[in-house]
Amino acid sequence: MSAPILLAERLDRWFGGIHAVNSVDLDVADGSLHAVIGPNGSGKTTLFNLITGHTRPTAGRVSFDGDVITGLPYHKVVRRGLAKSYQITTIFPLLSVLENVRIAAQAASFSYVFWRSANRMHDVVAHAEQVLERVGLADRPNQTAGNLSHGDQRRLDLAIALASSPRLLLLDEPTAGMSPQETAETVELIRDLNADLTILMIEHKMDVILGIADRITVLHQGATLFEGTPDEIRAHPEVQEVYLTGSL
Ligand SMILES: Nc1ncnc2c1ncn2[C@@H]1O[C@H](COP(=O)(O)OP(=O)(O)OP(=O)(O)O)[C@@H](O)[C@H]1O
Ligand SMILES: [Mg+2]
Repeated sequence: MSAPILLAERLDRWFGGIHAVNSVDLDVADGSLHAVIGPNGSGKTTLFNLITGHTRPTAGRVSFDGDVITGLPYHKVVRRGLAKSYQITTIFPLLSVLENVRIAAQAASFSYVFWRSANRMHDVVAHAEQVLERVGLADRPNQTAGNLSHGDQRRLDLAIALASSPRLLLLDEPTAGMSPQETAETVELIRDLNADLTILMIEHKMDVILGIADRITVLHQGATLFEGTPDEIRAHPEVQEVYLTGSL
């Protein structure tokens, strides 16, 4: 087993009377593709927000690469090598595809002074172009982002997350709203990205998850119901029950 790149310990979050995340432990192995599944409202997105610093935990601890990052804001977490691509797209619709990625690369960089030099600007554009190549958008850098198809907007969203050169990438339902063809392409892309970086992803489509995940954590009503390999998940009656009926 490789060392965990991400470790969440007894993470907890209440929203008023709702226990959205209930003492969740999560151990993501370096280089792995780890999936989080569970019915609607089971706390998946909240768990991600607690990890990325978008929401403060009520209790618990998050460590990235051995350092405690609990409560750090997202822009600081990004500089340590963690990035997310979310259900809600973060693109600037009026800007070009390349501009969207360039801005993200710049925002994740070290300092204002660093980016003032013309050479650095050249480097950042070259980096943005490489990222577009990676996600399959290199043929239309000048297209207005808002005019891309839904599937291509999700690719751009992914490119924005990749612009910071993360070691751990969090994906919240990367195939949501996609056609079967787009879903298959996205799965291929995720597999390809996983060759170089660790991926933690939320996904509703069981066939997608069972096909690509190394480990799967199942959330139910904010708590971990089960964690295991795809084969263990397939053989687990309680998980099947939650997925078929949405309840136990
Ligand atoms: N900002 C918030 N304020 C109040 N309640 C919230 C907030 N965010 C989430 N919740 C509640 O916390 C619970 C978990 O929500 P969350 O969005 O994390 O679930 P999810 O597993 O991502 O669901 P889905 O599959 O629908 O995306 C839900 O009951 C939700 O209504
Ligand atoms: Mg969600």
